[in-house]
Amino acid sequence: MARIVKKAVSKKTPAKKAAKKTAPKTKNVEPKKEAEPIMLQPPRGMKDILPDEQGYWDQVRRVTERLSRDYGFSRIDTPLVEFSNLFNRAVGEGTDIVDKEMYAFATKGGDKVALRPEMTAGIARAYIQHGMSILSKPIKLFSTGPVYRYDRPQEGRYREFYQVNYDAFGEQDPILDAQMIQVAARVVQNLGIKAVQIQVNSIGCPICRKEYKDLLVNYLESKSNKLCQDCKRRLDTNPLRVLDCKEDKCLQVAAAAPQSVDHLCDECRLHFKNLLEYLDELDLPYTINPRLVRGLDYYTKTVFEIWSGSEEGRKNALGGGGRYDGLVKMLGGEPTSAIGFGLGVERLIIEMKRVQAKPYRAPKPKVFLAQLGDLAKKKSLKLFSELEKNGILVAESFGRGSLKSQLRVANKLGVEMTLILGQKEALDKTVIIKNMASGEQETVSVDKLVDLVKKKLKTDNVVTYHDNNHNNG
Ligand code: HAM
Repeated sequence: MARIVKKAVSKKTPAKKAAKKTAPKTKNVEPKKEAEPIMLQPPRGMKDILPDEQGYWDQVRRVTERLSRDYGFSRIDTPLVEFSNLFNRAVGEGTDIVDKEMYAFATKGGDKVALRPEMTAGIARAYIQHGMSILSKPIKLFSTGPVYRYDRPQEGRYREFYQVNYDAFGEQDPILDAQMIQVAARVVQNLGIKAVQIQVNSIGCPICRKEYKDLLVNYLESKSNKLCQDCKRRLDTNPLRVLDCKEDKCLQVAAAAPQSVDHLCDECRLHFKNLLEYLDELDLPYTINPRLVRGLDYYTKTVFEIWSGSEEGRKNALGGGGRYDGLVKMLGGEPTSAIGFGLGVERLIIEMKRVQAKPYRAPKPKVFLAQLGDLAKKKSLKLFSELEKNGILVAESFGRGSLKSQLRVANKLGVEMTLILGQKEALDKTVIIKNMASGEQETVSVDKLVDLVKKKLKTDNVVTYHDNNHNNG
């Protein structure tokens, strides 16, 4: 049957018709989208580290790298992004880090990946992948870089933060546990944070922990009406975490809970006992904290945290770690004992500022290079790099034309001497050295300049990494 389509009768007035004739055709043109305003700030929980702050960061880098070398660690860098299931398995489903805080997403190619919420899983993955088990043990690895957790930001808790990690593979002797704790304490103390607390506990191995866990769950279930909502959920997913909940009512329940150290198997008990003896031997004061369980599933036996010694700084741990003897095997490698810890750089810096610990101050130039005239300006660029290559720190203000204004800058910087390269000196291949304190001037040949300046400067202003091999070590 033929469909009858009723033609709509146009209701357009003559004026509307005329307007349509003159209006540009817009049929296939997309409506213009309003450009989204650029937010002049990074995403929540992330921040810039400005030049003014870098002295603290430099100090953390210097101290942590120095100690990593002194204690025989080699540096390793792994990607910021790994396949998500690495963290799901290693850190554990049921942990806050994996369930709530991981930046997990699918790539354009469909891979399920995540920004690393911690570094140990990636380091263990690299250890297995690159067959490091054949190296002589323990294999000590040092790593540092950003870490991402979608947590609620507050002081000392960010969504992008930096960690320094020390890990050692292939040694089960508790002497290594003690040495690791010693390294953690040394880092903090070398940063000028003298009063710290070392919290230690043993959460046993999978065998004794299972028995302990059953006991704990029984106890917690009998008190479940006194637990916060999160801990009621944790009863099923991660009952040990109930012990370190910060809610008042959960703290009360935790205070009377059975303690893991009372339920260790013989091997775990001996391991813990030996560790404490080594710590005594090192004169490292520690507190046994039965509620210290850590928020990552891979730990076995020893767990520890470094806390600030002050009430104020104690809210957030400066660092934490422990043994993870089962992780390498769980990820597909040979059974391998391992232990390590991570320190939060932002938290270390907050604490450094709180105790007024000194940031690193890079040496300031004591030499200023001034130039006058076109030829001198051209030559000064090369002269600057010649001095720099020889490890002499030099300041300049090439953009300024007048000698007077350049000398003003030199005075402001408080340099010891100004090298003046004018038209005449550029032609004669000489330079004037002006002593800024006495005002005395001498003209020297360019060839002799480097040696002369070095001699006049105190050695601390000559940067020694510019050795003959151009080796940045
Ligand atoms: P973690 O205790 O989760 O351990 O983190 C180590 C340190 O990172 C903490 O003690 C803290 O200083 C810092 N940190 C953690 N979360 C934040 C945050 N949201 N904002 C600022 N700083 C934070 C681990 O990550 C283990 N992978 C450590 C380890 C290495 N275990 C064995 N080897």
